[in-house]
Amino acid sequence: TAQGQVRDQTVSLPYGTRRPRLVAPTTVHAAFHKAARLFDLELDLVPCRPDGSVRASDIIARLGGDVALVVVSAPAYPTGAIDPVGAVSDAALALGISCHVDSCFGGLALPWWPHTPVWDFRLPGVTSISADLHKFGYAPKGVSVLLHRGRARHRRQFFALTGWPGYPVVNPTLLGSRSASPLAAAWAIVERLGAAGFQRLTASCVSAARGIMDEVRSIPGLAVQGSPIGPSIALIADESLPRDEQVDPHHLADEVAKLGFKIQHQPGLTQANGVRLPHSAHLTITPVTERALPELRAALRAAAGAVRGKRPATAALELAALRALGYSEDRVPSPAAAWRILRLAGAAPTPVHRMRPGTSALPGKMATLMALVERLPAPVAEALLTELLARVSEPPDRGV
Ligand SMILES: Cc1ncc(COP(=O)(O)O)c(C=O)c1O
Repeated sequence: TAQGQVRDQTVSLPYGTRRPRLVAPTTVHAAFHKAARLFDLELDLVPCRPDGSVRASDIIARLGGDVALVVVSAPAYPTGAIDPVGAVSDAALALGISCHVDSCFGGLALPWWPHTPVWDFRLPGVTSISADLHKFGYAPKGVSVLLHRGRARHRRQFFALTGWPGYPVVNPTLLGSRSASPLAAAWAIVERLGAAGFQRLTASCVSAARGIMDEVRSIPGLAVQGSPIGPSIALIADESLPRDEQVDPHHLADEVAKLGFKIQHQPGLTQANGVRLPHSAHLTITPVTERALPELRAALRAAAGAVRGKRPATAALELAALRALGYSEDRVPSPAAAWRILRLAGAAPTPVHRMRPGTSALPGKMATLMALVERLPAPVAEALLTELLARVSEPPDRGV
């Protein structure tokens, strides 16, 4: 859509500009990296502060005639921060630039969440919004909505073709053949819940989020990153304390997993301006969380106690071993080499055909793998992750 929009606008790309830009904060979802590659846009990432917030003025400074789309999130998945949608969409409107709000995560929770800034079509500069019915719409996976301001924008998303010998084609989405089952399920769930149901379920998420944040604030060495609004919370080490008193979020996540809760490891990231976003552990809060809240609070406290003072994984041994074995860190490993590296890092997954019921395919301790991901060049780390996932589903007897 953004590409169609740019094609139809009379954009004059400044001399030397190769491709239209997609401007977004560093915390924008990976899906926009993928989209930029697919649509051949240059992804122009605006650095955030270490707490995950971003200055509106830093985004606005990047807007210009070669910008196809500016994207802000409500909230951003990695940190739970709501980007400055109002100021950015106002500036975009003044410049005639499309402004997308990614509320895949928050779109069906924020309307009932207390004290949220305005982030939706009430802002005149917001031109499109994405919201996932398969997240806080509680529907099965595969049913998200992309809303456009006005019919003309909406119609650009369609693909219609008469110039082939088959049936006249009209696809409303990028995917041609799509299953109607999740659509039907989403419709039934939304009908059944109604606004009152959404309000009740969101209230449960709000209460669970508060409970978790209260607990974390009372655990020495652990902190909540920034000021999340909505059902995503990231935990970081409290760097205001001496190292021996800090709780490393990745060791915490490994330890909490042993107690039956899955919180997600997020690697740290050094942005283009040198400002580092710390490594963290992500929690997605759902209405189920409230029911398990006492156990989760206890698990966070116990796990923090078990790992307090433990230094963050460096993967130094694994990196040294890689070098000793002659693997070059700047060459993308073949599938066989990637598999050897994964095994060396203790991060080889259990293939599905060998999994026992109730166990996970992923390695129990992810901290070392995450440290490797942080330290290796992105194409190498991405090859390792590809191998990890591919090996889970590969048929037996393939060998190395
Ligand atoms: C904020 C946000 N945007 C976009 C997406 C879309 O992700 P995917 O491309 O995996 O459906 C997600 C999914 O987690 C999300 O949380």
